Amino acid sequence: APQVPDILSPEFATDPYPAYAAMREKGPLIWHEATQSYIISRYDDVERVFKDKQSEFTTDNYNWQLEPVHGKTILQLSGREHAVRRALVAPAFRGSDLQEKFLPVIERNSRELIDGFRHSGAADIVSDYATRFPVNVIADMLGLDKADHARFHHWYTAVIAFLGNLSGDAEVTAAGERTRVEFAEYMIPIIRERRDNLGDDLLSSLCAAEVDGVRMSDEDIKAFCSLLLAAGGETTDKAIASILANLLQHPEQLAAVREDRSLIAAAFAETLRYTPPVHMIMRQSATDVEVSGGTIPQGATVTCLIGAANRDERRYREPDRFDIFRDDLTTTSAFSAAADHLAFALGRHFCVGALLAKAEVEIGLNQLLDAMPDLRLADDFDPREQGVFTRGPQSLPVQFTPVTG
Ligand code: HEM
Repeated sequence: APQVPDILSPEFATDPYPAYAAMREKGPLIWHEATQSYIISRYDDVERVFKDKQSEFTTDNYNWQLEPVHGKTILQLSGREHAVRRALVAPAFRGSDLQEKFLPVIERNSRELIDGFRHSGAADIVSDYATRFPVNVIADMLGLDKADHARFHHWYTAVIAFLGNLSGDAEVTAAGERTRVEFAEYMIPIIRERRDNLGDDLLSSLCAAEVDGVRMSDEDIKAFCSLLLAAGGETTDKAIASILANLLQHPEQLAAVREDRSLIAAAFAETLRYTPPVHMIMRQSATDVEVSGGTIPQGATVTCLIGAANRDERRYREPDRFDIFRDDLTTTSAFSAAADHLAFALGRHFCVGALLAKAEVEIGLNQLLDAMPDLRLADDFDPREQGVFTRGPQSLPVQFTPVTG
């Protein structure tokens, strides 16, 4: 049987795909010593764990993965408590609110960042744009002071370092825990104040939301906003850098997208399949669970490899090829696209921000292409990505003829 590669090794971080292929081959269930978890890598098995029709899994692992930095978020909740919380937050991310309130926010924040580099002829799309745009959008959607965007960016950096801290670096852990305290000191007074002065923003929607007589406490809302830094910031950050990196490395597909912008939807879905921002999600088994070919004992940790499942040759033709024209991936909306790849997960915790992410990527990419008609990769572009739980280009240096005016 093929060796199980070490998912914590530097080689794996640089290029996990050969390792994923070996796991799918050896699978369906692999005991992994280093993470003390069962690895699942085939599409059907990951899909089954996410859908979890028999409620065999919990998200208790988030108690140690997320709680120290965010407090108790929607991702740690289960059963009826989760269903109510989901009903409280979801309306703010539906199509109608997006269209009416948030599209102008997305357009404005993207344009401001592009204006910062469009006259210079060169940029790093990761540091100049992608790491800033979704976080600014969230802060702006919440109705926070624009002067606080820089603090948000600082907390964002600390949070994603905490979440990706596989080596257990003590300073990173401490900075994450500090962020939890600072974020609460900043957010809680704003939440209290906003309750008395409801407006049109996302924070007001969260304050006013009520389902079956249940409302969110100040602490609940604060934890949700904190989660958005990672769930809505880091993911979309990586999706934008990846869609552009994938297209720039496939110039004929980029040319097609430039010509017909409706193809951005397909490019987004294919990017999420081919290079998903979230590669790894864990669950805990609440009971003994039979998966094809083995038993996961009760109380075990299960590592679901989205990045491997999305390249499963049992599911996709030529899975290692980036092809926005492939016909085995539906792309009509974020939600139907999600039924065809696992980047947003599935089931109860299916990404509540999928439509928002899609809107951000579509608007952002359109603006980037318009501002830079001859956008191309700079010579020092390094196609290797970075990250284990989440992945994306480390940097994306580009060149273009600066437009005047
Ligand atoms: C849940 C991915 C954008 C908010 C999830 C999950 C995944 C995911 C895989 C499931 C986690 C689990 O089951 O353990 C992504 C990707 C995105 C993206 C790839 C961008 C391309 C966003 C945005 C927001 C958001 C823009 C909001 C601003 C959330 C929240 C949850 C979630 C709140 C938890 C839902 C629940 O527990 O019911 N996302 N996400 N995400 N996402 Fe996203």
